[in-house]
Amino acid sequence: MPEASAQQAAKLAAAQHALRYVEPGNVVGLGSGSTASLFIQLLGERVKQGLRIQGIASSQDSENLARSLGIPITDFTKHQVIDVAIDGADEIGPAMSLIKGGGGKLLREKIVASACKRFIIVADDTKLVAQLGAFPLPIEVIPMAVPLVDARLRDLGFTPKIRQAKDGSGNYITDEGNILLDCTSSGIVDPEETAAEIRSIIGVVEHGLFLGMAERAIIAGEDGVREVMP
Ligand code: 5RP
Repeated sequence: MPEASAQQAAKLAAAQHALRYVEPGNVVGLGSGSTASLFIQLLGERVKQGLRIQGIASSQDSENLARSLGIPITDFTKHQVIDVAIDGADEIGPAMSLIKGGGGKLLREKIVASACKRFIIVADDTKLVAQLGAFPLPIEVIPMAVPLVDARLRDLGFTPKIRQAKDGSGNYITDEGNILLDCTSSGIVDPEETAAEIRSIIGVVEHGLFLGMAERAIIAGEDGVREVMP
């Protein structure tokens, strides 16, 4: 099997496994990215078969997908607690530390994760790492503050790069109208300390380090599906 389709199969297997965590009547957080989208498609099939749930989406793309599949969408005015959210990740490090935001949706993803009773990651096994940081850390920034935040991040040892839109139209703009800086580094040795330092920079809206949020990760690969806990 070519590598790309093996990875795709693993993502599908992880998404399929995650369905067991959804119960009738749940408010379900809908993540973003290719693995979360597979989960949304599978959930849509269950809804067509009669499963009654409501979704809260972590991006406009996920909301559009869910609506197209007939998944009822709710929001925080009606439900402040999400029973379970299923989302992908770009890196999964020790103690379930995560880098997210490769798809550009980290702010809403973190809002959804913060409101969850259970935050569950679905991923193929290429996402498991011994140390975070090989994947550039996405940081969402208020547009006018970009030069200031860029300089502060360089002081912290990052090399930020403004993310570009895939269609070549210029800077990528988040769902909230902000800029994303993709920050390369030689590795994130202490994620908690790094998260605190980034958070202290005025102009940073949110960063892609998700720490102490996920209760488990469903990881799939050639050896099958397994669950990893912090
Ligand atoms: C989007 C994300 C995604 O969950 C992350 O990029 C993983 O995506 P994929 O499942 O396509 O590998 O954080 O902001």
